[in-house]
Amino acid sequence: MELKTARYYDGRPYACWIDPLLKPIRRAVSDLIEPGSIAVDIGCGTGALAMRLSRQCEKVIGIDHSHLMIRQAHRIGTERGIKNLRLICDDALSALDHLKEPRVDYAVFSMMLHEITPESRLELILRARRIAGRILFADYRIPLRRLLSVPILIVERMAGREHFRNFLNFSRTRGLMSLIEAADLTVSLRKTIFGGNVCILKTRSPDIDN
Ligand SMILES: C[S@@+](CC[C@H](N)C(=O)[O-])C[C@H]1O[C@@H](n2cnc3c(N)ncnc32)[C@H](O)[C@@H]1O
Repeated sequence: MELKTARYYDGRPYACWIDPLLKPIRRAVSDLIEPGSIAVDIGCGTGALAMRLSRQCEKVIGIDHSHLMIRQAHRIGTERGIKNLRLICDDALSALDHLKEPRVDYAVFSMMLHEITPESRLELILRARRIAGRILFADYRIPLRRLLSVPILIVERMAGREHFRNFLNFSRTRGLMSLIEAADLTVSLRKTIFGGNVCILKTRSPDIDN
């Protein structure tokens, strides 16, 4: 499945403008994953995090429904000769349903949940919970700290009307915390970066022995 309308920032623009800014998130997430793990990066974008994880993981699977994002990820992955990264262009729910691996060590949601509809957020986490022993989240910490909240609101608005509507709903509904409670996940590690505006949460799933 592909996005019917590609967004103006998908693919190369995202790789040029956004990926460089998100390096601290990639560092924080990769620090929490043990070498030799199998990880699935849900909403992987241009694959910057998935490629970083491929250095330490046995295998990484990147899923994104934007063909421009996946095309960019393929291009960079091929240039770098990365062999242990599989990229899937599909809606995340469907891709998780059809995954070859019955179980993975980590599912990762990096800066993805705030942009999707409220209905699909919990559904997606519950789907990930069935196959992943641990779920890592990186997303805005709600409420945002005042100092950076205006630039963040501008960036989120520039991403489009629907994206912004979903972001506002994510903020109004306490962001990751309410989702983690609803999904019955246990937080084992929490840290904040970007002046306290992005939080990284490592959680355990009750479905799988860890
Ligand atoms: C803000 S980007 C984050 C990309 C990357 N995880 C990062 O940290 O830079 C969110 C990504 O999620 C993808 N996405 C949103 N909804 C999706 C869905 N239902 N299935 C698959 N990918 C999705 C978008 O195409 C986009 O590439």
